[in-house]
Amino acid sequence: MSHGPLDDDAVESYREAGAVLVEAMNEARSMVEPGRSQLEVAEWVEDFVRESGAGLAFPVNLSVDAEASHATPSRDDETEFGEEMVCLDVGVHVDGYIADAAVTVDHTGSVELVEAAEMALEAAIDEAGPGVEVGVVGKAIEDVIRGYGYTPVLNLSGHGVERYDAHTGPNVPNRGVDRSVELQPGQAVAIEPFATDGRGKVGEGTDEEIFELERDKSVRDRRARQVLEEIREFDDLPFAARWLPDDRAGMALRRLKQANVIKGYPVLKEADDALVSQAEHTLLITDDGVEVTTAGIHGFDD
Ligand code: CO
Repeated sequence: MSHGPLDDDAVESYREAGAVLVEAMNEARSMVEPGRSQLEVAEWVEDFVRESGAGLAFPVNLSVDAEASHATPSRDDETEFGEEMVCLDVGVHVDGYIADAAVTVDHTGSVELVEAAEMALEAAIDEAGPGVEVGVVGKAIEDVIRGYGYTPVLNLSGHGVERYDAHTGPNVPNRGVDRSVELQPGQAVAIEPFATDGRGKVGEGTDEEIFELERDKSVRDRRARQVLEEIREFDDLPFAARWLPDDRAGMALRRLKQANVIKGYPVLKEADDALVSQAEHTLLITDDGVEVTTAGIHGFDD
């Protein structure tokens, strides 16, 4: 995919998506507290985004303790937050232009683990710019997290976003690998350091609540066909099973997955079952630097 300079409408849409995200995030983070329903928080954010006239780039991720990513409540989920570490990851789009950002809310007393991810993100933003190798950004992330005595999650990385595509190149590693790919003006990039006191590797869990249309082709089963029609409304972006209109969708989703029409995003969990923190911003790479479209959610933003 080639990148020219972004046109003004695209830049404006990226900024609008970021502004909606920041407003939602700053309210939602204060809702994440012991005894509160996870589903209530997820739906509050998702309703807020839709009522703002924006769209969801993916379902609200509420990844708890050793979970790093891809966890979202199921339909009628009654799980409440406890004394936990919660990574709150939100994706908003305006006209397909995506803002992706995350904060960690800590109720475990592990303030430094949260700070490690945030300071790593700040260092990465300071380093990023046109012509900068992604490995150099990764090294900045790794150095900060190791400086705190923690380990970056090595098999998760930041990523580009493009119109109606929440996950594309360039890959921005969370460690100092020797990678000569350079950031280019016109790219939008989500940088997301994860820090852990475990070994720094995530594996796939069994829970799966987030899916994405992969290959739109006809299916025999009538119910699966109806569900596929509903899935087409999600603009090829990831969606939550609970967004489908009723709970009979479960079997249809399994059929669509078997037929490779959709793919699932299993919850990613730290291999040692250790706590994971996350901090994320979306940046536009400009001709002479970067513009953070989601500024205003981390302490270092101002
Ligand atoms: Co994100």
